[in-house]
Order: sequence, then structure tokens, then C-alpha cells
Amino acid sequence: MNYLKKTLFLFALLAMMSTMRLSIGLVEAQDSSTVNPHYAALLNNSMWFYEAQRSGKLPSNNRVPWRHTSVEDEQDQNHDLSGGYYDAGDYMKFTLPLAHSLTLISWGGMEWYDGYTRANQSGYLQSTIRWGTDWLLKAHPDANTLYVQVGSGKIDNNYWGPDTGIPTPRPSYAITNTATGTDVAAMTAAALASASSFFRQMGNDTTYATTLLNAAQSVFALAETQPFQTYTKAVPEADNLYQTNKYSSQLVYGALWLYKASGNSDYRGKASHYYDQFNLGETRSVIPMDWADCSGAVSILVYHAATRWLDTMIDPSSSSASSSPCMFTKGGMLWCDGYSDSNSMVPLQDTALLALLYSRLHPPKSKQYTEFATKQIEYMLGNNYMMTPYVCGVHMNSPHNPHHAGASGGTDIGKIDTSPPEELYILYGAVVGGPNKEDLFYDERSDWKQTEVALDYNAPFQGLVAYQISTNAADPPYVTITSPRPSVYRSFVFPGWLLAAIIVVVVFILAGIGYCLWLKRHGLKQRWGGPKAYQV
Ligand SMILES: *[C@@H]1O[C@H](CO)[C@@H](O)[C@H](O)[C@H]1NC(C)=O
Ligand SMILES: *[C@@H]1O[C@H](CO)[C@@H](O)[C@H](O)[C@H]1NC(C)=O
Ligand SMILES: *[C@@H]1O[C@H](CO)[C@@H](O)[C@H](O)[C@H]1NC(C)=O
Repeated sequence: MNYLKKTLFLFALLAMMSTMRLSIGLVEAQDSSTVNPHYAALLNNSMWFYEAQRSGKLPSNNRVPWRHTSVEDEQDQNHDLSGGYYDAGDYMKFTLPLAHSLTLISWGGMEWYDGYTRANQSGYLQSTIRWGTDWLLKAHPDANTLYVQVGSGKIDNNYWGPDTGIPTPRPSYAITNTATGTDVAAMTAAALASASSFFRQMGNDTTYATTLLNAAQSVFALAETQPFQTYTKAVPEADNLYQTNKYSSQLVYGALWLYKASGNSDYRGKASHYYDQFNLGETRSVIPMDWADCSGAVSILVYHAATRWLDTMIDPSSSSASSSPCMFTKGGMLWCDGYSDSNSMVPLQDTALLALLYSRLHPPKSKQYTEFATKQIEYMLGNNYMMTPYVCGVHMNSPHNPHHAGASGGTDIGKIDTSPPEELYILYGAVVGGPNKEDLFYDERSDWKQTEVALDYNAPFQGLVAYQISTNAADPPYVTITSPRPSVYRSFVFPGWLLAAIIVVVVFILAGIGYCLWLKRHGLKQRWGGPKAYQV
């Protein structure tokens, strides 16, 4: 019997266990009259951040005073693409990171729903997911089309200002059955299918769950259309913005979520087939999870690969079987070279989330996994050299300068750091990119690697906080921090070209001196010794 087929049974088991846990969770929730107020506030703030990212016509209960209805009538060839979420500190809309984020939010939402109910956030959780999935439904208007990007990087990234002046035109880009985009279509299927499960189980909305499931099946069929290729081959406009280099983990991920949402074993077969075809179980090195790769999440879902993936991720030195790009910084942050550099809070959170999701399925190591995750959450929430929670608006040491055009209140991209000197509006709940490998954080708006915010930075955060609430965790570390963040200054990094120039100059000077000395000696010999020779 195929090894994977057996393990995929475990996935079915996992799905059942989630449902069982839900009823247990709800009982817990009823019994529990208290909720940690700090984690409840964090969850509320994180939900509020998603509200701050909404595009299109805002509802009357919008809580973000400085946000307005924007690009309400966004059209592509008479097709409505309004709504959805702005991706980050800009006004672009992307399907891939949105779909990845929605999947994580739905997954964590199902797992720790009682955390949401205890914090009175389950209503917001539903509206947050729905705001995204409603847009994904619009982005897939027919069986052969999936819109993957709205707005042009060249136009949008030159604009820095409020949502009332978003520049036009805002072109849209789609993959089709002839210009395929396997990765983005499969990831969209995962998002729609996981949300379908969420609304069926938690939202109590079977009509919407069915709509989502139908769309998920349709977009997965588009993902399976040959030739398989990454979507930037079809949409080069997304190059260097959200570019993947593989589509294999997404195909398995989409099929697994469809299996979970539909119970249709064809999808289990597809997951198994793609898992084997692309050899996902045999990788020699682990790949951290993010919007570009979900092999980590796949390994948790298919269960058998999870221990290897997690153990290599969280204890890179111990594993001989697989190699990992990750290590721990001096301050204890999980750092993955090539992944953490432009947003260190992402590999940290994504790995912690998967560790928690897997911990209760694997009792022998459950303690190790939850301890790892808890340490990382504590690092993120203030137990770090900077004494900083990397979440805006929750503490005096919180980042004050997220790279976010709307919240900054600035209008001059040339003076991004200085005008205005401090963010005009607090971007409550937004997780920023995070500190560097030396655990240092500079809080500069122009330093997008450290201060940018994005849909996919907050997606795992939702689950982590709901977990902390549902397990009655102690206060987050920042609650007891009363000293200001230590001042840090960038050490002067010697630019390579300057070093090269100096070496060239020094070599020239030395050569010059050497030549003079040589000339002097040789010349003197000639002048003084020469005549003697002639005398011979
Ligand atoms: C949720 O967060 C927002 C932004 O910080 C705040 O205005 C609001 O009062 C919070 N609501 C609750 C119930 O804590
Ligand atoms: C709970 O959240 C809802 C929105 O989902 C809000 O209308 C209500 O006032 C909140 N109740 C409390 C006690 O915070
Ligand atoms: C679930 O459905 C029942 C019956 O249709 C309804 O009374 C209840 O309010 C719903 N709950 C939620 C959370 O939507």
C-alpha cells in the first residue's frame, strides 16, 4: 500500500479530530468566563488591522476612521474587481498572498475558535474571512479565468499618500486556461476550500460554504490545466513582487483542503498523486513556509513528514537527515537565511503556528513543540533585546513607523521618513517585518524589510494569539516592560566599491613609491657605476 495513502488517512483523522475538538472547545468556552485581556486586545487589534486594509466600498460599521471607500468601481473589461484587501503598505491587490493568508486564518480559526469566542472576536473573524473570499469569488468569474493582480507596481509604488488619491490606471492581470498559473490557482483553491470548511463548521452558513466549495473545485480544475507553470510565466508583471519558483506544494495543499472541505476521496487521491509525482516527501532540505511555499504546511497535513520538517526547522543542529537554512539568533529568534532577511517575523510565526497545529497530533514531542512556539511568541511580544513587541499600537515600545502609506499621513515619497516625523495614524495590530539577524530594530519607515506590514504577516499571528487565549497563557511579555526601547544606531557598513577604490589607490601609491625607489637605485647605479664600466 502506498505509504502516503496511509498517511492521508491520518489527514481524515485530523479533520475528524478538529471537529471533535470544536465541540470540546465550545464547552470550554462556555465554562470559561475569563479571557486574558492583553491577548484579547491583541486579537481585536489584529482584526482591526485587516479592516484597515479593506479596498472598495467600506461598510457603515467600518472602525478605521482614516480609511475611505476607494477604487469602488474597479473594473476590468466590465468585470467587477472591487473589494478585497490591499496587500501591504501600498494599494496593490494580489491573489497569491491573500489566498495564503486566508487559508492560515481559516485553519487557525477552526483550530482555536474558542480563543476567538472568548475574546468576542468570532464575528470579526467571519467578516474578515468573508471580505477576502468574496473578492476571490469575483476574481474567478468563469472556469477559465483567475485574476491575480490589480494595480501596476510601477505606478503604485511611486505613490505615497492617503487612500483618497490612489493613482490610476489600475490594470488587472489574469491567468487563464491558456496562460496557466498552477501555483496561484491551487493556492486559491486552498483558500476557498479552507474557508468553506470554516463557514460550514463555525459560521453555520452552509449556503456560503457550498458556494465557496464550488468555486474551489472550479479553480482547482484550472490549476490542473496543462502546462503546469508558475504564474509569473503568464503574468510577468508580478515578477519580483510575488514570484514563486515552484507549484508542487500548492497543488498538494489545494487538493488536501478540497478533500477536507468536500470529503471527496478523489481529492485525497490527487493529493497523494502530486505528493508522489513531485517527490515532496523526499526533500533533502526543509523549506520554511511562507506565501511562496507551503510544503511545511503540507507535511503537517499529511502527518508523516511533519516530525522531520519540524525537528529540522526548530533544531537545525540536531538533524543529520535534512538541512535547514535556519538557526537561532543570539536573542533566541528563529532566523532562516534567505527567508527572514526581508521579514523576520514571518518564518518565526509560520513555524510556530505549524508547531502548535502539529503538537497535539504527536504527543511524544508535543511539549517540545509548544515550548518552541511559546518562546517564539514571547520573543515577538517583547522578550527580545529591543524590549519591543513587533505589533503596532499595543505598547509604548511598539513600532511607531510602519511602512504604510495610508497610516503615515505623508504624501511625499521623497521624504518618507521625515514627513511627518511620526506616523499620523496608529496602525493598531499590524505585525511589522521585524528585527535583523543581530536582533536589532531601527523603526524607520523607509526600511521596508523591518517596518512593512502585510496581510500574510498577520495571518499566522491570528492563530498564535487565539491559541494563547484558548490555553489561558500568562500575560504577553510587553505588559511588564516599563523602560523605553534601547537606542540603536546603524553601524557604518563599509561599501564594497569604496574598499575596492581604496585598495586600487593604495596599490598605485605603493607601486609609485616602489618605482621611484627602483629608479633612484637603478638610476644611481647607472650614473655612478656606468662610467666605471666604460672605464674597463
Ligand atoms: C479594538 O481595537 C480598536 C483599535 O485599537 C479599538 O478602537 C477598539 O476599542 C478595540 N475594541 C475592543 C473591544 O477592544
Ligand atoms: C462583541 O463584538 C461585536 C462585534 O462582533 C460587538 O458588536 C459587541 O459590542 C462586542 N461585545 C463586547 C462585550 O465587546
Ligand atoms: C446558526 O443557525 C441557526 C439556525 O439557522 C441560527 O439560529 C443561529 O443564529 C446561527 N448561528 C450563527 C453563528 O450564525
